[in-house]
Amino acid sequence: MDDLYREQIIDHYKNPRMRGTLEPHDYSYSDDNPVCGDHLRIDLRVDETGRITEAAFDGEGCAISQASADLLVESVVGKTLEEVKQLSKDDVLELLGIELGPVRLKCALLSLKVLKAGVYGLEELEEELV
Ligand code: FES
Repeated sequence: MDDLYREQIIDHYKNPRMRGTLEPHDYSYSDDNPVCGDHLRIDLRVDETGRITEAAFDGEGCAISQASADLLVESVVGKTLEEVKQLSKDDVLELLGIELGPVRLKCALLSLKVLKAGVYGLEELEEELV
């Protein structure tokens, strides 16, 4: 692992810029990593044009999952919801800057899963189905 990126991950894990919750929020979703049970929540506020003005994450997990959430949430402020829908696994890996094995990949991609589920409105869908 590249030392520079390793330092960046530890820094975002120990000193997250985006940790917190937004109340009220326009979009919120939380989910677990099925492998370990670690939990992540992401909240978004958007303006009338669908552009994200504020974002925050909360939860607990390993350094990779928390650093990934912090970097990803930071990167989506200023993006539109449509742009967020286009984000891929490669975008998250680019933010992290490291190669990951399959288990660590699930840690890294938990934030993308939660973010996209929130943007696609799965929470509302689930409420409707209850
Ligand atoms: Fe749980 Fe990484 S070990 S998210």
